[in-house]
Amino acid sequence: MADSLKKPWSGRFAKETDKSVEEFTASVHYDLRLFEHDVRGSIAHARMLGKQGIIPAEDAAKIVQGLESLLEDWRAGRIEFDPKAEDVHMNVEKLLAAKIGEPAGRLHTARSRNDQVATDVRMWLKDEIDFLSQLMAEFQHTLVSRAAEHLDTIMPGYTHLQHAQPVLLAHHLLAYFWMIERDKKRLADCRKRVDVLPLGSGALAGTDFPIDREFVAKEIGFSRISENSLDAVSDRDFVTEFLAAAAITMTHLSRFAEELVLWSSREFGFVELDDSVTTGSSIMPQKKNPDAAELTRGKTGRVFGDLVALLTLQKGLPLSYNRDLQEDKEPLFDAVDTLRGALSVFIPMVATAKFKKGRMREALEGDFSTATDLADYLVKTGVPFRQAHEIVGKLVAECISTGRGLEDLSLDDLRKALPQATEDVLRILQPEESVAARSTPGGTARSAVEKQIEAARALIKEKG
Ligand code: ARG
Repeated sequence: MADSLKKPWSGRFAKETDKSVEEFTASVHYDLRLFEHDVRGSIAHARMLGKQGIIPAEDAAKIVQGLESLLEDWRAGRIEFDPKAEDVHMNVEKLLAAKIGEPAGRLHTARSRNDQVATDVRMWLKDEIDFLSQLMAEFQHTLVSRAAEHLDTIMPGYTHLQHAQPVLLAHHLLAYFWMIERDKKRLADCRKRVDVLPLGSGALAGTDFPIDREFVAKEIGFSRISENSLDAVSDRDFVTEFLAAAAITMTHLSRFAEELVLWSSREFGFVELDDSVTTGSSIMPQKKNPDAAELTRGKTGRVFGDLVALLTLQKGLPLSYNRDLQEDKEPLFDAVDTLRGALSVFIPMVATAKFKKGRMREALEGDFSTATDLADYLVKTGVPFRQAHEIVGKLVAECISTGRGLEDLSLDDLRKALPQATEDVLRILQPEESVAARSTPGGTARSAVEKQIEAARALIKEKG
């Protein structure tokens, strides 16, 4: 058999791999995404092998040169993968051999694909986390600047999707800022545990060559090296943890998506999404659909699936490496792509959304959302809250039966129910007053929301 067709394990085998098995076990069609990281890891490994005198220095130099030229080929789109070489790692070795010949055979000294793949995935994920964090910061910028534009836009605040109390649109938008802030911190925390170098763990037990793991870690930018070779080659908790963080962020985006879908309906009419982030209908000429928001909501399910896949994948695996672990990559790639995509559409979607100030204000008319303010008013005249609640509840019921809103009542009407009421009671029934009164920290009053914006801006600045 020609050398290039030989499996690296051919010495032990009397038969060729069945085509079905070859196809079933191949992963290069998706793990080729790790190409650049795999090559960079191999360059560091080869340098270390040369430096430690584990392989001849000339061979190490040839390997490094060959790998660097493979990186150039990759960037120029000149790499062709061979599915028979199974995964990206063996493809790289094969491509290197084609380039530099025999010295390529020394690269895999003191290394296994088991510690190699764990290294590649960790390197790749660190880069992706950095990119995702940037997108999140950009999204936060958008949220803060839209909030700053809407410091006097009042809308119904909801519980149970029923009008509850008036709030500022700025306050509502900033709620998402804080969710994304926690999401970013979760990613940053997860990154610390991704940032550990498995290379040097060998197949599972370490190696008998005098390797320098700290050198490799430094070369490819890992802060620490792993402490236990069995753990390092077999645990994918760092992937699971990332997926959990990604699933939580998707949940946040999905809730926002649901609101944008609702708000852009005719019934709500609170927002008009820009033409550039919506799609039309192939049959109904009038349609403008919030597909990007809907798909964010829909794709959230995929990311949950990715998380459950990783949890399930690992729950029954004995130590250490098992081939099952190859199945970690597609869910991880899928979640990263999905989250990237969702954040990328949310930034322009929120940046260009036209919030309908007038419609939001109109929606508050006759909605009783200042009933709590009225009860609080009574409390301030000395009535116990439970009693005040009952009195105002009855007044609301009466208004409903006579088709009026609280703001339609005259001072005389109000005095019938609340004899202690004075002129100022009319003022507190205004949504503007209700909002302005909630000036405690974290509340919806303009003064409190301005402080919130300040805090949010300081956070974004701090992290650049
Ligand atoms: N493609 C494999 C994976 O992703 C690499 C490690 C394979 N190791 C092995 N002993 N078959 O997990």
